[in-house]
Amino acid sequence: MSTQMTLAIVKPDCFAEGHAGEVVHAYESEGLRLIGAMVVSLNAEHAAAFYAEHAGKPFFGSLLEYMTSGPVLVLALEGDDAISKVRRINGATDPEEAEAGTLRDRFGKSITNNAVHASANGDDAKRELAFFFPELAR
Ligand code: CMP
Repeated sequence: MSTQMTLAIVKPDCFAEGHAGEVVHAYESEGLRLIGAMVVSLNAEHAAAFYAEHAGKPFFGSLLEYMTSGPVLVLALEGDDAISKVRRINGATDPEEAEAGTLRDRFGKSITNNAVHASANGDDAKRELAFFFPELAR
């Protein structure tokens, strides 16, 4: 096991519905430490830059519309195998395929409105942490 940092986002509807505390609790109860947190309202330019790898995909427009529809809670987390751990806690991208009890099973509504985001791998974690928490980038 190795200590890693990763980034997670409580997406607009999940945040607006008051589930931020439950999301943080799900991560902390699996041994992850919160090392950064901020509430941000993304504009289209920020959202497009953050999700640049998805530019041109059919769902890109709806993804930007969703992610700019209200404030989000951005989290930096640290712990053993943090990247895969957070992805496991979140569940499959499509809430219909997410394992019972995962955050997307509990709070996700559709593949676009899927409640939470997490970095997919080490390179993404580095880039995404630098995007929101430049002071944590190493
Ligand atoms: P996220 O983990 O934030 O990464 C990219 C996002 O694009 C994803 O969650 C979904 O919110 C959204 N998305 C919408 N449609 C798709 C799709 N068909 N495949 C992957 N991601 C999708």
